[in-house]
Amino acid sequence: MKIAFVGKGGSGKTTLSSLFIRHLAATESPVVAVDADINQHLGAALGLPEPEAAAMPAMGAHLPLIKEYLRGSNPRIVSADTMIKTTPPGEGSRLLRVREDNPVYEACARTVGLDDGDIRLMATGPFTESDLGVSCYHSKVGAVELCLNHLVDGADEYVVVDMTAGSDSFASGLFTRFDMTFLVAEPTRKGVSVYRQYKEYARDFGVALKVVGNKVQGEDDLEFLRAEVGDDLLVTVGHSDWVRAMEKGRPPRFELLEAENRMSLQALQDAADDSYAHRDWDRYTRQMVHFHLRNAESWGNAKTGADLAAQVDPEFMLGEPLAVAQLG
Ligand SMILES: Nc1ncnc2c1ncn2[C@@H]1O[C@H](COP(=O)(O)OP(=O)(O)OP(=O)(O)O)[C@@H](O)[C@H]1O
Ligand SMILES: [Mg+2]
Repeated sequence: MKIAFVGKGGSGKTTLSSLFIRHLAATESPVVAVDADINQHLGAALGLPEPEAAAMPAMGAHLPLIKEYLRGSNPRIVSADTMIKTTPPGEGSRLLRVREDNPVYEACARTVGLDDGDIRLMATGPFTESDLGVSCYHSKVGAVELCLNHLVDGADEYVVVDMTAGSDSFASGLFTRFDMTFLVAEPTRKGVSVYRQYKEYARDFGVALKVVGNKVQGEDDLEFLRAEVGDDLLVTVGHSDWVRAMEKGRPPRFELLEAENRMSLQALQDAADDSYAHRDWDRYTRQMVHFHLRNAESWGNAKTGADLAAQVDPEFMLGEPLAVAQLG
């Protein structure tokens, strides 16, 4: 299943993503972690030494390889150059799986050893000043969208994406690609206003959205979040000494994380599992096509000089990994 962490800058997206990933690793679940934030911090939060975190390959820099691989022998996609971030898979396309080796992981993923097992980490790549305002800024996050649209993921395997809540993910279909979106909010008016904006976009697309209150201290904080967010409030996380120790570069073993926070992480997993159980593959595929047609018309056709609507394979539907494997 696919899970996103979004929220205001500094709310704790990276921290909670990294704790959730450690929790999943402790349950021996296979995990692909993706750092899709403008500020690339997930590697460090997972304990990668700084030089290794800085040396992470950028997915954005490997777009030609990613496109060429995913295109496979799909006759509707005449060349990798005509593939945009929303180009959907069709017959002949190659699909990605969480548990496999493939050229995309080989080029873009690194194995990170955690206390309880290894996970795969990928990163969109840092956003340098020269990227701002030009198309490669979008194409970097676009690499994530392209990969998610070509992924067939099962119930007991997890893709966890650390993202911004910015308008970038709304312009594309990225925000609709997740079984569960956790909006991390501090108990402040600003924290909650990002929630409202996200909820607004999410509503029309049936996006499953839950709020995770972070840095919550005491009754007053809790009461504020309950009043502002209502039933969308899933759990809250308090100040964590474990996190603080990690920030000092001295992470204790994960099993020493505060019991309350462990329970909150379990609640996140339960909510995501429950949401995946209701995944509607048909709607999922239709939304992918919807955003592709929208992007094709607004800029894709002009940029590539092709009619990108013709890339849509009307017969194709993504499905459970097993079913797809049998078909292929
Ligand atoms: N529950 C917590 N307990 C203690 N410290 C925390 C907690 N949550 C977050 N922090 C600290 O708050 C700071 C911001 O957190 P983090 O980097 O996870 O936020 P972010 O939303 O990913 O920020 P950005 O938007 O910059 O990517 C970090 O120093 C982190 O260690
Ligand atoms: Mg972050």
